[in-house]
Amino acid sequence: MLALLLVMMSSSMLAARTAAAMLYDDIEISWGSDSFFYMDGGDVDTLALGLDRTSGSGFSSKQAYLYARFDMDIKLVPNNSAGTVATFYLMPDDVPWEYHDEVDMEFLGNSTGEPYTLHTNVYVNGAGSREQQFQLWFDPAQDFHTYSIEWNPKYIIFLVDGTPIRAYSNGGAARGGTAFPTWQRMRVEGSLWNADEWATQGGRVKTDWTQAPFYAYYRNFRVTPCAPSPGVAWCGDEPPESAWFDQRLDAAALHRVQAANMIYDYCADQKRFLDKGLPKECTTD
Ligand SMILES: *[C@@H]1O[C@H](CO)[C@@H](O)[C@H](O)[C@H]1NC(C)=O
Ligand SMILES: *[C@@H]1O[C@H](CO)[C@@H](O)[C@H](O)[C@H]1NC(C)=O
Repeated sequence: MLALLLVMMSSSMLAARTAAAMLYDDIEISWGSDSFFYMDGGDVDTLALGLDRTSGSGFSSKQAYLYARFDMDIKLVPNNSAGTVATFYLMPDDVPWEYHDEVDMEFLGNSTGEPYTLHTNVYVNGAGSREQQFQLWFDPAQDFHTYSIEWNPKYIIFLVDGTPIRAYSNGGAARGGTAFPTWQRMRVEGSLWNADEWATQGGRVKTDWTQAPFYAYYRNFRVTPCAPSPGVAWCGDEPPESAWFDQRLDAAALHRVQAANMIYDYCADQKRFLDKGLPKECTTD
């Protein structure tokens, strides 16, 4: 019995490290089922999420995870993408909105020639308002680039082509218990939708439906579930000083990107928090 269990564990650990070639093995279309298609590109397939006047579309991973690294290659809507928003995010199912956690990467489209905004946010227990926004150092509609979310008990790290752009850290009790998602298994979601009420230049620039349908392309989805150190039962039990976490954050690279590419930081938005003061995680680092 024990031997069987060990065999099952080791094979599931192997299977866990997915070098997913075929996206449709790992995800399913969750809405807008008339608006997507798969392109067969040899050893990887590509999902084209579509958006027209009647509908956008979205997918959801078949599995849910508690602590993992997620990578996806994405190519965004080219030319006039104003009003459109493509997303890559983590979300639990069956959790009431007022308790749900969420980790967001959202790509806000723009008029031809104007830069996309990469919008990030972290919700804990239903509360978000932790936005940081970036402009990318390349045209994200020209080619596929890798967007990643690393979620472990110590940090949530957002990466672009392997470079960290944001780290949201878990202060735990030591920092007065800053909010951090620690218990809800989350699925990976992606979507393309119309958000022209707010997305582009504050909602002033609307979606040009004569250009529809719009497409954003997703491929090469990889998941690496958190692997605890030897002798540790699960990642939640790793000691905070575990090298396993820190080696994943290149702090120098993070600071370089933030200095050059960050265009909004809620922690620097004193005006917005005049009443209650800056959120705890902004002042305890
Ligand atoms: C985008 O614009 C370029 C140049 O204006 C054009 O050649 C190309 O076909 C456009 N692409 C799409 C997908 O509309
Ligand atoms: C769109 O382009 C304008 C002008 O360059 C810029 O101010 C804005 O941040 C860009 N992004 C969005 C989502 O509006």
